[in-house]
Amino acid sequence: GKPLVVAIDGPSGSGKSSVSREVARRLRAAYLDTGAMYRAVTLHCMTTGVDLTDSPAVESAARTIDLDISTSPDQESVLVAGSDVTAAIREPAVSSAVSAVATTMGARAELIRRQQALIAGSGHRIVAEGRDITTVVAPDAQVRILLTATEEARLRRRGDQLGGTQSEEQLKRQVTERDAKDSTVVDFQQAADGVVTLDSSELDLDQTVTAVLEIVRAVA
Ligand code: C5P
Repeated sequence: GKPLVVAIDGPSGSGKSSVSREVARRLRAAYLDTGAMYRAVTLHCMTTGVDLTDSPAVESAARTIDLDISTSPDQESVLVAGSDVTAAIREPAVSSAVSAVATTMGARAELIRRQQALIAGSGHRIVAEGRDITTVVAPDAQVRILLTATEEARLRRRGDQLGGTQSEEQLKRQVTERDAKDSTVVDFQQAADGVVTLDSSELDLDQTVTAVLEIVRAVA
């Protein structure tokens, strides 16, 4: 296919991962989950004893990590030094620690560089999602979308994802705390100039995918 970069940002629980993956399938494009890269660096620091408050050490971990992330929408796979960490990076301990990596500017710079290389490696035919894709990683993407949802809808989705293993109270604390920490470094709550806002609160997965594809058709 011809080059087509679709950039999708949004907070946790906005549904952006499932939506982006399915949009990539339908467009026969690659798919990049940038959050998985922040998670992989976080887990790597945790398992190798890197103090997450030590910025130079976290930056160095981001620079040296042997990280291999699948960009196929049909194969979810994250390898660190050849070990499969696809499931481990979703553990609650990683979710609560990941903002430490996300707020280390040197680590961000390195991950942004790797993300841009992966986008180039796809032949610029990719759906990339995260917090700063529309603004920093791929500001020149043909399609830029901010996927939002009310806090209520986001908490419901996160709860479903985790299989009801956590109380409503716990969930709310985790989701709002992570959003608050993330907001200190990337503004993913407000659409930048030229970014289309799509509110998915009242839409199911299929309807959201359809809405994104309509935006793609309108501009690309
Ligand atoms: O998307 P996900 O919730 O898996 O992202 C995990 C974390 O990675 C976010 O909470 C945020 O701290 C960080 N992140 C980021 N920039 C991105 C993607 C994720 O800072 N583009």
